[in-house]
Amino acid sequence: MSEERRNVENIQEAFDREFERFSSLGVDGLSLSDAETALRELGEVKVNHTGKKSPIANAKKLIGKVSPEERGTFGQLVQSVEKHIASRLDTTEAALNALIATARTERERLDVTLPGRRPRTGHLHPITILRQKIEDIFVSMGYAIEDDREIETDYYNFDALNIPEGHPARESQDTFYTTEGFALRSQTSTVQIRAMERRGVPLRILAPGKVFRRDTPDMTHTPMFHQLEGLCVDRGITMAHLKGTVTEWLRRMYGVDTVTRFRPSYFPFTEPSAEFDFSCFKCHGTGKFEGERCRPCKGSGWIELGGSGMVHPNVLKACGVDPSLYSGFAFGFGLERMTALMYSIDDIRHMFENDVRFLEQFR
Ligand code: DAH
Repeated sequence: MSEERRNVENIQEAFDREFERFSSLGVDGLSLSDAETALRELGEVKVNHTGKKSPIANAKKLIGKVSPEERGTFGQLVQSVEKHIASRLDTTEAALNALIATARTERERLDVTLPGRRPRTGHLHPITILRQKIEDIFVSMGYAIEDDREIETDYYNFDALNIPEGHPARESQDTFYTTEGFALRSQTSTVQIRAMERRGVPLRILAPGKVFRRDTPDMTHTPMFHQLEGLCVDRGITMAHLKGTVTEWLRRMYGVDTVTRFRPSYFPFTEPSAEFDFSCFKCHGTGKFEGERCRPCKGSGWIELGGSGMVHPNVLKACGVDPSLYSGFAFGFGLERMTALMYSIDDIRHMFENDVRFLEQFR
């Protein structure tokens, strides 16, 4: 008999040993995930120590087999061990459950009195701001905005623009080529050809877009930049229309006192050709600002902006337009330089580095 009693006492000891890690756990300080793990492990211990095949269940089956006079005390021992196991398990289980419930509620708690978080709203890139401003002015003068492809053939980028193979103008506009014989356009002048082919004449278009050149990036060069190209073709268009249009546009941009200047120049696709400048928007042509040399115009009073001219008869012919009936003017300029001057940005590479600390200044 003493052997059976010993066995039952061993059952309690074995349980206590296994349960030790739960009693030493200190339920109160547990994190939610640790408490969930502990509860799962406790479940396994419970099955092993109270289930149908547990040692205590087996001991219970012995109660009927011991001698009647010993049955009472043996039965009491078994019952007390069973109670001991069940109560320890239940207490810890209840504590873990309570802790988990509180932690889950805490996790989902919403403090409706907290101040809201303002969503970050985007805004336009400085290049886009300037482009749209210019587009608006030209649209009000009856121009259509013409979008076109950035990947071109040599024909549209050069030949049709009166720049045959071997022409030195090709040198200064080296670009990026694909293995299939295409190239990234080096100028938006390509759209002159595309638009005349597509729409015929008369036409007035403004073509903004990206252009590409094989340039090493520095403060004033990036291999990708933006141009705006204007083209007006009709009967009787003269250089006076060109000067009037460009002057009107720049006056609307920078104020009615803005003066334009055209200097003779050369472009293969215009004849005659001119570069155009306008009186500095900061010093209004005086070259001095607050007693110092004016920065945007470097003290000259003039800002050089772009190229222009009367569309070359060869360009009209390439588009099936009869130069004896129609004439036109064209102009083109870069947007980065203009943006940099207007916002006093000394390095145009900032514009494409996507650093919000830089971009946020142009809200
Ligand atoms: N395509 C020229 C360039 O990239 C700029 C230009 C000059 C455009 C004269 C024109 C023009 O339309 O008439 O340097």
